[in-house]
Amino acid sequence: MKAIVYDKKNSRSPLQLREIEKPQPLDDEVLIKVVCVSLNAADSRSLKLGIIPKKRIFGSAIAGIVESVGKNIQQLKPGDAVLGDLSDFSFGGLAEYVAVPEKALVLKPQNTSFEEAVTLPVAATTALKAMRDLGKIQEGQSVLIVGSAGGVGSFALQLAHYFGAKVTAVCSSKNREQSLSLKADVVLDYTQHDFTKGNHRYDLVLAINGNYSLLGYRRVLKPNGICVTVGGSLSQILKSVFFGWMLSVGGKRMKTLSAKADPKDLEYVARLLAEGKIKALIFKHYTLAESAEAMEMLSKGHTPAKVVIHI
Ligand SMILES: NC(=O)c1ccc[n+]([C@@H]2O[C@H](COP(=O)([O-])OP(=O)(O)OC[C@H]3O[C@@H](n4cnc5c(N)ncnc54)[C@H](OP(=O)(O)O)[C@@H]3O)[C@@H](O)[C@H]2O)c1
Repeated sequence: MKAIVYDKKNSRSPLQLREIEKPQPLDDEVLIKVVCVSLNAADSRSLKLGIIPKKRIFGSAIAGIVESVGKNIQQLKPGDAVLGDLSDFSFGGLAEYVAVPEKALVLKPQNTSFEEAVTLPVAATTALKAMRDLGKIQEGQSVLIVGSAGGVGSFALQLAHYFGAKVTAVCSSKNREQSLSLKADVVLDYTQHDFTKGNHRYDLVLAINGNYSLLGYRRVLKPNGICVTVGGSLSQILKSVFFGWMLSVGGKRMKTLSAKADPKDLEYVARLLAEGKIKALIFKHYTLAESAEAMEMLSKGHTPAKVVIHI
């Protein structure tokens, strides 16, 4: 089968299209014929930091068709259309086939295409975890989304709207229209406006991208507000992990998300997509052979919405 294999020694690009052996599913595994993969910041960041998947194949968000199943598999059968997050299962999506445990997969809703559905694993599920589980979002609340344009941010924006919140989106001017189209109530251009110095106060702040001080985030919280750091610069993440708890005093809470793949969350966002409550926004499509180019673009940190690789 064809796969994009990491090869450190290749001088042109470490991501090389190779012909390798097709995997065989173990007893508890399902063999998937991959149709699409969506890339996430985790893929490009891991590549940059030299954190290489066990089988040297990147790609965690997949959608595809069950080709065959191991002998202990109870639920899925050949021909089922599925999607999954392979972050906890050694990645491996950038290939024609991947063998994964059944528990990584959920059924793709029939009325959604593979390319729409594949945008959900990692991006939409991370946004859901941050907003619903850590952020405890409530209807009518005022929510600030810092980094509303990327994969996680564009779903966070839609989910905040779905949960009935008033949303202020922070992105650069080129993504203003995208944030407005996803029903942001207010859009702030971070190149012109520093929200940490403004007078608005929020019930929930999601720090998805950017690099601000923890005190800045804390300052814009209402008295019982919650700030959830999801990502952004390494410095922003480290500050949140090591010092966030110290600033969780007097009613305000500073939390850091470390999302684990959860099929229930994936089913939840897949249902919202199928019901038209959220939509998949795809910025660019690539072929498998163009994966290195797609990863390079993503690594610059300014790709809006999602990037989809068609296998
Ligand atoms: N905690 C977890 O468990 C978890 C899980 C998944 C992802 N993450 C993290 O979440 C972050 C987002 O992931 P992703 O896949 O959504 O990334 P992404 O799609 O690559 O994000 C790109 C977007 O970030 C925006 N951006 C860049 N610099 C910004 C700034 N200074 N202020 C505001 N927006 C800015 C860009 O919009 P502009 O062009 O408008 O700047 C761009 O559209 C990453 O840091 C990732 O590592 C964390």
